[in-house]
Amino acid sequence: MPLVALLACAAWVSGVARPHGASDGSRRIGSAPALARALVGTPAGTRAKASIVGGSDASIASFPFQVALYDPRAGSPAAGFFCGGVIIDATHVATAAHCIAGDGQGGASGQVAVLAGSSTLDPTDPGSVRDPVRSSTFDPRYSPVNSEYDVGLLTLARPLWPGAAAPSVNGVDTIAPLPIDRGKAAAFANPNATPAILATASGWGEENPAPGHAADYPTGLRSVRLPLVSDTVCEEEYATIEQPITSSMICAGGGRSHVDTCYGDSGGPLVVDRDTPARPPADYVLAGLVDFGNGCAQPGYAGVYTRISNPEVMRFLTLGIGHVAKPVGSQAKHKKKRKKRHRRRGRAPAG
Ligand code: ARG
Repeated sequence: MPLVALLACAAWVSGVARPHGASDGSRRIGSAPALARALVGTPAGTRAKASIVGGSDASIASFPFQVALYDPRAGSPAAGFFCGGVIIDATHVATAAHCIAGDGQGGASGQVAVLAGSSTLDPTDPGSVRDPVRSSTFDPRYSPVNSEYDVGLLTLARPLWPGAAAPSVNGVDTIAPLPIDRGKAAAFANPNATPAILATASGWGEENPAPGHAADYPTGLRSVRLPLVSDTVCEEEYATIEQPITSSMICAGGGRSHVDTCYGDSGGPLVVDRDTPARPPADYVLAGLVDFGNGCAQPGYAGVYTRISNPEVMRFLTLGIGHVAKPVGSQAKHKKKRKKRHRRRGRAPAG
């Protein structure tokens, strides 16, 4: 079986799943989650339980660095939503490469915007900001086949806050950066520590990936706590489906806990608290970006995240030098690309 078929994911989830769907009916094609689920399958008796999967409602004030990526031409963030992202400074958002690379990613129209400062996608919170993406790049080492170096960087059209000083993450700020720090990520997000370090992931992704269940995307932000999983254990888990776990990946969750990130959470944050007692979000450290899994919340398979402590990942995020994601497309281009994407998805729902 082609490896990549097992890497279930949805860089494009809008329209299909949301109750309020896309006003543009054409965008109902390309249900990557449904397709991925069909391809992945789930062994009998291993139904993934509902609800992120197994998480709870979260406020953007607890995750002020979280943004939603959406296609602005869909009409609203909810209709165009397709991935998560992490604010790293006033004009930059980290995300997964598979959210923005290649045909059909990054919104059906080829345009991407971010929604910052909102717990809900519909309606958006007062004080939230919609900011178009001016340009995007992804790591030149990114492999859509095995998801190595699945990291991208968005440059926003406008700073998310005025002036040089970043908003504090301690107050009531709902938009704030989570600066990336390789040393802290390595020190505080060590997956091989015993006992396992507890991490937190957040997003607006799929809640119920059970086979045969209709896609279920929440409007409100959700978060889930997941133990980091050692490199060796994760490698062993994914060896069963011949998926290499490489140095640009870090794993969390799995076991029989039925908690995981899922389709639509991609590109969003996996954080660890570097302090005891916990004082989130001020002392959060970015450990990873949601990348892929074998389905979602399947017992015995951790979720896989792009590893921030990897020197190459860090270098890319710092310099932003990489492949330029498809430029903002015209409507005509968009139509052509959509067809192509459909064919491509059929072969390989990556990420
Ligand atoms: N690739 C998915 C996306 O684009 C995220 C899948 C995460 N899967 C998991 N089992 N943790 O949204």
